[in-house]
Amino acid sequence: MKITVIGTGYVGLVTGTCFAESGHTVICVDIDPAKVELLRGGGIPIYEPGLEELVKRNVRERRLAFTTSTAEAVPGCDVSFIAVGTPPGEAGEADLSYVLAAAQAVGKALTGYCVVVDKSTVPVGSADEVRRVIAEVTRQPFDVVSNPEFLKEGAAIDDFMRPDRVVVGVESDRARQVMADLYAPFVRAEQPILFMDTRSAELTKYAANAMLATRISFMNEMAALCDRLGADVDAVRRGLGSDRRIGHPFLHAGVGFGGSCFGKDVRALMTTARQSGLDFDLLRAVERVNERQKRLLVEKVLRHFGGSLAGRTFGLWGLAFKPKTDDMREAPALTIIEGLLGAGAKVRAHDPVARQVAAALLEGTAELVDDPYAAAEGADGLLLVTEWNEFRQPDWVRLRALMRTPVLFDGRNVWDASRARAAGFTYYAIGRGPTG
Ligand SMILES: NC(=O)c1ccc[n+]([C@@H]2O[C@H](COP(=O)([O-])OP(=O)(O)OC[C@H]3O[C@@H](n4cnc5c(N)ncnc54)[C@H](O)[C@@H]3O)[C@@H](O)[C@H]2O)c1
Repeated sequence: MKITVIGTGYVGLVTGTCFAESGHTVICVDIDPAKVELLRGGGIPIYEPGLEELVKRNVRERRLAFTTSTAEAVPGCDVSFIAVGTPPGEAGEADLSYVLAAAQAVGKALTGYCVVVDKSTVPVGSADEVRRVIAEVTRQPFDVVSNPEFLKEGAAIDDFMRPDRVVVGVESDRARQVMADLYAPFVRAEQPILFMDTRSAELTKYAANAMLATRISFMNEMAALCDRLGADVDAVRRGLGSDRRIGHPFLHAGVGFGGSCFGKDVRALMTTARQSGLDFDLLRAVERVNERQKRLLVEKVLRHFGGSLAGRTFGLWGLAFKPKTDDMREAPALTIIEGLLGAGAKVRAHDPVARQVAAALLEGTAELVDDPYAAAEGADGLLLVTEWNEFRQPDWVRLRALMRTPVLFDGRNVWDASRARAAGFTYYAIGRGPTG
């Protein structure tokens, strides 16, 4: 098939590349000329393990190309994916304007039957909106399909190639067949393609993110209780997750969830619910717990140092909102750095891949360094914010010798408390008991 993908961000670039890898001809479109130029020159605008190699191979084999022009890319295509951003609007709702602009541009360029696929995360009813916008500008036959994306940044290729499931909302048999053919190489009996109506498909995406966010906030609330009661949240997590009705993923207490999706999608779903006359009380609590959680580590620092951080310097490990990505959208590190600076401290931070992204966001605030031990040098405390593998087993002796005051604030519960204490550190974590 000939496929176009509109929007070449985390989702669009991975989608386009994986379909090219399965043998289709794909043109990726982005309105950002710098991004397209970089991609054409063999560069990759984001950090995503395995992506660069896949992009290069498919470009070389002429199955994958990049352009800024939807008008040039769309004619003759069988399927056109819309994978542009849906950022939060003023009232928390998803801003559909990028999706509708992309839909209109696709509609204007159609030269024959095409399946237009909403891959962006969009509120219930958006497929109807997209259909209306396209119908206004073309007489060509087309179908609109909702196909939300569930990939995780950091494991995006694997998630796309081996999805737990593919959700497809369709309203016509013709579109259903096209989508079944397209995803055939990626689905198995136990990893099925699930066809449903478009509204249910749109809601499934929000339901999934809201559920995952709820699990995280639930565990963070449980961690707060553990701190007060002298229990260990990691023991509780193991006991809880081993119950097959519950399972282990997304039960880690920490500094709160970040990223471009959970916060935005929880807020958008609350707005959708409110607009339909339902107060989604549970999600309000999920969001409130998360906001509190992002500030918790700084509160622990302030408590340790008696309320003032003036004249103190802190090392910070990890800036990206999670490991294996350079994405810093809604990253807890941003709230933590703001809190430390606001209390009069200086911050020296290190992240294995997010330095460039961080430099633009943190200009004139935190100092960024290339080496984790340089971040700890002369520090009054070290905060672990993102659990990159390389931070899991630090050289305690070296760290102890470098730091001015040996205090650790483990925002991800990854360090061995007894080892850290044996090496002479005061150790705080999230929900690991009264001293944590
Ligand atoms: N990032 C994730 O992990 C993830 C996972 C699942 C779903 N989603 C959803 O997928 C969508 C895209 O997310 P993302 O993280 O890839 O976004 P992104 O911000 O990384 O990329 C969006 C891209 O679209 C481009 N764009 C905007 N308008 C355009 C237009 N009219 N024509 C061509 N290009 C245009 C932008 O320049 C940008 O490069 C969102 O709705 C998001 O909620 C994201």
